[in-house]
Parts: sequence; C-alpha cells; structure tokens
Amino acid sequence: MKKLSDKVTFKHGAVINNRMVQPPMLTNSGLNGAVTDDTLAYWKARANSAGLVISEYNYVSPAGGPAITWADDRTQLAAYDDKFLPGLTKMAKTMKSGGNKALLQIAHTGREANYRAHLGLPVYAPDTANYPFLPYGVQAFTTEQVDQVVKDFGAATKRAIDAGFDGVEIHGANHYLIQQFFSRFSNHRDDKWGDYEAFPLAVAKEVFEVIKKYAPKNFIIGYRISPEEINPDNVGYTWHESTELINKLTNKFDFDYIHLSLPDYQAKPKDSAKTFAELFRPVIGEDTKLIIVGDIMSQADAEDALNYTDLVAAGRAQLIDANFAAKVVAGKGNEVITEMSEAEEKEQALTPGLHKVMDMETKRPDFAKVLREVDYSKALKVK
Ligand SMILES: Cc1cc2nc3c(=O)[nH]c(=O)nc-3n(C[C@H](O)[C@H](O)[C@H](O)COP(=O)(O)O)c2cc1C
Repeated sequence: MKKLSDKVTFKHGAVINNRMVQPPMLTNSGLNGAVTDDTLAYWKARANSAGLVISEYNYVSPAGGPAITWADDRTQLAAYDDKFLPGLTKMAKTMKSGGNKALLQIAHTGREANYRAHLGLPVYAPDTANYPFLPYGVQAFTTEQVDQVVKDFGAATKRAIDAGFDGVEIHGANHYLIQQFFSRFSNHRDDKWGDYEAFPLAVAKEVFEVIKKYAPKNFIIGYRISPEEINPDNVGYTWHESTELINKLTNKFDFDYIHLSLPDYQAKPKDSAKTFAELFRPVIGEDTKLIIVGDIMSQADAEDALNYTDLVAAGRAQLIDANFAAKVVAGKGNEVITEMSEAEEKEQALTPGLHKVMDMETKRPDFAKVLREVDYSKALKVK
C-alpha cells in the first residue's frame, strides 16, 4: 500500500522525503525577470512542505516571456542569462533549506508572452497568426531562431545546475511554446519544425546532453504535458497523440518523471473509461514516476490520488496553506487552512502578484483571475 509519507527514489538516484509535490506556480515576484526578496520569502515559507518543490516557469530565451503579469511592476522569473544566476542560486538554496528537493521549471511562453506584447515587443510562435483570443498578432520564428531556442533550453539547464537546483522540469504543457509546436492547431510549418514531435524531442535531447556533461549523477529530470488540447472550435491534439509523444520521450530519454497537467486528478478523456493517469501510467514505464495534479484540496483527496499515481501535486492548496503537504503527509489533514484571513495571507508569504489573484470573497486563489491576461486597456501595439 502506498503512503503519502513514503520516501521515493528516482531513476537517477535522488531520494525525496515523501510523495507530495508542490507543482510549478507563477509567483509573479520577479523584477525584470530576476528573483526578489518576495520570491525568497514565498519559498522560505514553503521550504518544509512537499518532498519535491518545483519553481514557477522560468523563461529560457529573451523573447520567451514574460507572460501573465498580475502586479504592475512585477514579472515572471527568467533564466535566459547568467545575470539571473545570483538570484536563482538564492532561490535554490531557500527552496532546499527544509531538506527537500528543488527543481527549476524551464519554459518558453511563445505566443503567450503577452507582457512582451504589452511592452510593444514582437511575440513569436510556430506560425504567423492573429489568434482571436489574443489582442496582438504573433510572428513565426525562422528555422534558425527555433534552433536557438532549443539551445536556450540547454543553457538554462546549465544555469539550473550552476545555481544548485536538484533538477529541471521541461514545461511542455498549458499552451506554451513546446505545446504550440506539438499542436496541430498552432503548427503549420513547412520546415523541419513542422513535424509536431520534432521540437519537444529536440529540447529533451539538448537538456539531456547538458545534464550528462555538467550535472551530478542524481540530477532529476521531468517533463510536464497537458494530455489534450481541446477547445470547442479546435483540437490541437488528444491523448492518442500525447501518449505517443510520451512513449517516444521516455523510450529515447531517461526521464525521472512525467507530470500530467490536469484540472482534476481524476479527469478522463471523452473516449475512454480510464483516467488520464491510468492511460499514461503503462506508457511511461515502471522506473519513471508519474505526477498528477488537479483540485487536490484535502488529505482524503491526496490519499485517493495515490490510487492513480506515484506522486501527488497540490497547487492552490499550497498557496492557501504553505504547509498543506507537510500536514497531509503527517496525517494532520484536519489542521489544513482552507480559507485565508488577511493575517494568514502575510504568514503564508503570498507575493503581491499572488495577492491580486486571491478572491477576497472566498479567500481562495481565483482561477479565472490566474488565467486573465494583462490589462490591455493601456497602450498596446497590435501588429
Ligand atoms: C497561481 C498559479 C500559477 C501557476 N503557474 C504555473 C507555472 O508556472 N507552470 C505550470 O506548469 N503550471 C502553473 N500553474 C498550474 C499549476 O501547476 C497546477 O497544475 C494547477 O493549479 C492545478 O492544480 P491545483 O488544482 O492543485 O491548483 C499555475 C497555477 C496557479 C494557481
């Protein structure tokens, strides 16, 4: 019987203290992409929580972000230059200070770099397009620019190693660049990058090469994917294609884990009686761990999720109570804070950006606000 308090050993040898994970969540605490005291306070409060703590998505290329910005003067964190290393080093140290393993999530936001658009800077994607859901146009990368982005994922991985992180997570989920290349909806290229699997596979190859060359043997490497991209009017891909991609990724490369980005940990596709977790588990192989996430808000949810997976991630629950995972691992689910008073908000060290996504009525993070884009009523250059 699996228990939340079990230690878990990854394929490359790293051991984590329990089966709980803090999934990547934008803190919106960066100053021009750099770590600030707010970032560190947020992580200090969460250093004793889950066995595995994963940073927010750090953009790997100058044009790879920032995306969504909730606080006017704060941005997403970046890892595209060595100038970010001192801050990232402090962040890694803080995240690890409770004896847990800390990973850097590496990403390129592609067409979703809406704060760049807000600043009047060009935004890149697989195709030149005017998406109806974006109030700005996006332009296609040249072949060489994509080659460079692949290298940028490697360079960011090297920075993660130098900063002292225990591993990296490649962000292939949630409509960001890797998913944009994998999607039949957003990739109609006729060069080598028009092969839907080419970009995710090239990024993985580059990241693994850097790790082999520079990282300690037990460095953790994970990949996050959204199992499906289905909007009412368009289908980017379904679980049939994504399980094929994951099959290739896990056969070609030694991933320690695969992380399914789900709205609900029990979610199922329309055409199967099985949950996504059950569909992906046999594909990834015995030695590779599975992480699932989505609306895990109590000890009962976390224990139930273990029926489907090796590792359980809780996001918003960990914003409301920085020690959510620690409490459920200790069997103290009854002590979990489920609503945030103003005093508690300070104690949980929410950043100013995260403060803005709180719904003051329900005293819980508001998903609608999380997903809402920057305020475009201010001057915005639309191409
Ligand atoms: C405030 C906030 C920021 C997020 N930022 C990221 C991110 O940087 N990278 C990512 O892969 N997912 C991000 N997500 C998605 C979460 O990792 C998670 O999948 C989602 O919140 C569902 O889990 P939950 O129901 O436990 O909150 C974010 C979610 C929230 C609430």
